[in-house]
Amino acid sequence: MRLIFPAPASADDLDDDALVARYAPDRSRQTVRVNFAASLDGAVEVGGFSEPLSGPADKRVFKILRQHCDALLVGAGTVRNEGYHAVTLDPARRAWREAHGLAPYPVPAIVSASLALDPRADILARAPVRPIVFTHDGAPADRRAALADVADVVSCGVATVDLGVALAQLRSRGLPHVLSEGGPHLFGGLVAADLVDELCLTYSPQLAGAGAERIVAGPVPAAPLGMRLVHALFAEDSLITMYARAR
Ligand SMILES: NC(=O)c1ccc[n+]([C@@H]2O[C@H](COP(=O)([O-])OP(=O)(O)OC[C@H]3O[C@@H](n4cnc5c(N)ncnc54)[C@H](OP(=O)(O)O)[C@@H]3O)[C@@H](O)[C@H]2O)c1
Repeated sequence: MRLIFPAPASADDLDDDALVARYAPDRSRQTVRVNFAASLDGAVEVGGFSEPLSGPADKRVFKILRQHCDALLVGAGTVRNEGYHAVTLDPARRAWREAHGLAPYPVPAIVSASLALDPRADILARAPVRPIVFTHDGAPADRRAALADVADVVSCGVATVDLGVALAQLRSRGLPHVLSEGGPHLFGGLVAADLVDELCLTYSPQLAGAGAERIVAGPVPAAPLGMRLVHALFAEDSLITMYARAR
């Protein structure tokens, strides 16, 4: 993996330590970082899944992003569609976190209006730390009760989920660095409310063709949000980029 922007001091491949340092978040305030992979023609999935868009280099960064985060925010659609597993980290990454004053595991936080989530799903039932489910007051009471056995079910609005309130909840729980792994509707909600600080976007070297969604769906923001390039890595014909909100 080689750094191409900003201009590299050398053309050497970046080792894991260098990548971990490059992706270190600003911990002086809450940061919301979103991670996606897309095909060159903008598809967010191939055959319904993100896996075909992710090669070894993207997977390496994916793990480093998880290594840094306090909370892992994901939409219920992605959980259901991808059969999300419990968020685990290998022992070396857990040790790194503890040595840097972080909890061994990030807290999984799922956003769902319908609460159509199976409490026996791996991400909930086998989570090493108690997950959070963000919903609203009008969500079905029976589903709320079933999920309360395995997660903190938190209302963030009367009839809809206010993502700003959900992020404030994470802040108040001492979880400042939020990584969102999508999907498109959750990202669309975050963009519409201008709640995104960083986007880590991998351009997968393939043309998926028509049919798939983009990385963003749902509500439309009042105006496009400006972003600035933080870095671009090159590996396996993929561009692995990080952009930050230009405020
Ligand atoms: N390429 C990638 O990096 C990547 C990453 C993630 C996902 N994906 C792909 O994206 C597809 C899934 O797309 P998606 O848009 O359905 O994913 P999503 O955003 O994870 O899920 C949408 C669902 O999440 C809940 N949700 C999201 N935002 C909400 C909000 N603001 N308020 C209330 N509920 C909210 C709702 O759940 P309820 O229906 O339960 O109310 C909604 O129906 C899959 O094919 C997946 O493979 C790709």
